[in-house]
Amino acid sequence: MNADELLNLAPVVPVVVLEDAAAAVPLARALVAGGLPVIEVTLRTPAALEAVRRIAAEVPDAVVGAGTVVRPEDAERSLDAGARFLVSPGCTEALRAAMTATGLPFLPGIATASEAMALLERGVTAMKFFPAEASGGAGLLKSLGGPLPQIRFCPTGGITPANAPGYLALDNVGCVGGSWLTPADAVRAGDWARIEELARQAAALR
Ligand code: 3PG
Repeated sequence: MNADELLNLAPVVPVVVLEDAAAAVPLARALVAGGLPVIEVTLRTPAALEAVRRIAAEVPDAVVGAGTVVRPEDAERSLDAGARFLVSPGCTEALRAAMTATGLPFLPGIATASEAMALLERGVTAMKFFPAEASGGAGLLKSLGGPLPQIRFCPTGGITPANAPGYLALDNVGCVGGSWLTPADAVRAGDWARIEELARQAAALR
């Protein structure tokens, strides 16, 4: 799977923050059951890599990746845990090199034409657009599609069920990412039925 294929797997990528690795497997099963197999576990908690490890080992229908990859060493750690893709909020040359070295598909974050062009010069054509709503939203992405049509994006940051269709309608958007599918209270309470239903609604957005 390359990064472009990753963008085509599902219309919505749940961005997950997990405090407790024990929630990882039932959470992933609920998302897969709802029709969203691509899951980004953010490296924002001590439990994150263990959560990736458990999902990779126990939920074969999930495509689990690591998000919030900000330090070069996070890339290899994520690979070792079983991540199948990497996502970063922004990018540096050192981080790009480390992500490339894993051999995994990755979505480096950009918010401007210059950032996108710097990655394009390195052969990267699939990117995260972050923070999407705060950076100019679907209007900015549509504008980038004029001079830079070869780049495809996963906009993330401020995406909701209400604004997602506007992004998904753009030629240069493969999927959108968001945290609305896994509300912290539902995860804490183990309300997997609610999460499955949120996933089902999101899977129908396109
Ligand atoms: C992130 O990486 O934090 C994602 O962009 C999540 O953003 P959201 O909480 O606005 O969906």
